[in-house]
Amino acid sequence: MLSSNPRTTREPDPALLPIPTHVAIIMDGNGRWARQRGLPRVMGHRKGAEAVRTTVTACGELGIKYLTLYAFSSENWKRPRDEVDDLMGLLRHYLRNELNRLNKNNVRLRCIGRRDRLPRDIVDLIEESEAKTRDNTGLTLILALSYGAHAEIVEAARTIAEKAASGEIRPEDVDEKLFSSHLQTADFPDPDIIIRTSGEQRLSNFLLWQAAYAELLFLDDYWPDFTKEKLLAAIDNYRSRERRYGARSG
Ligand code: FPP
Repeated sequence: MLSSNPRTTREPDPALLPIPTHVAIIMDGNGRWARQRGLPRVMGHRKGAEAVRTTVTACGELGIKYLTLYAFSSENWKRPRDEVDDLMGLLRHYLRNELNRLNKNNVRLRCIGRRDRLPRDIVDLIEESEAKTRDNTGLTLILALSYGAHAEIVEAARTIAEKAASGEIRPEDVDEKLFSSHLQTADFPDPDIIIRTSGEQRLSNFLLWQAAYAELLFLDDYWPDFTKEKLLAAIDNYRSRERRYGARSG
């Protein structure tokens, strides 16, 4: 149940889970938010980018260590050219303009996904932002860009197969730990909670391996309406759950 006062999130309560270490979000509903207001889809994405800023700041303030945002999926390339250009424009703008704020807030930026499909200048901005925030020790913000879990898993399998074929590893060395270490998320813990906005209840090729024991939370709000209060309520909801990882509670 949602707590009546989401601000209690920060107070330690031994009966509740600690705050999540890693929050992952499928930011859905920008288009519907815009349509509801008779606005072009790009306005929904712009408002969505504002919600990204608010959420990154809030996660940093709350002491969350990792935030992964599904900003552009491998399937999003199938959208009309104009919309893809709008989304790339927003990403470019975000990466150019947020670097100072990320550094000021001690946020480290990392990106996962197929960089070879992104425009060259965006790849340059990603590399610059990753390099210039690499010593930050607060929140790690992971942007999933041109990301698809199937492609990530296949790529890991291919690399492992190549290592086995060359004799660098033996087939019997392949276990869950080794496999995880070949995913793009090797440096991060698995998400504790995956939030999806807009009422849709599916993972849409997002962090499929890493989601094995994640708590799932589906919210009816469209992403542009996501606020710090909604994040706090989501964390309260997570904290009241019981995580058993397949074991029995008693
Ligand atoms: C889903 O809404 C959202 C996206 C496909 C893109 C998410 C992008 C942003 C929030 C803005 C840019 C990101 C950053 C990091 C600055 P949808 O278009 O699928 O909505 P719909 O399902 O209602 O049509």
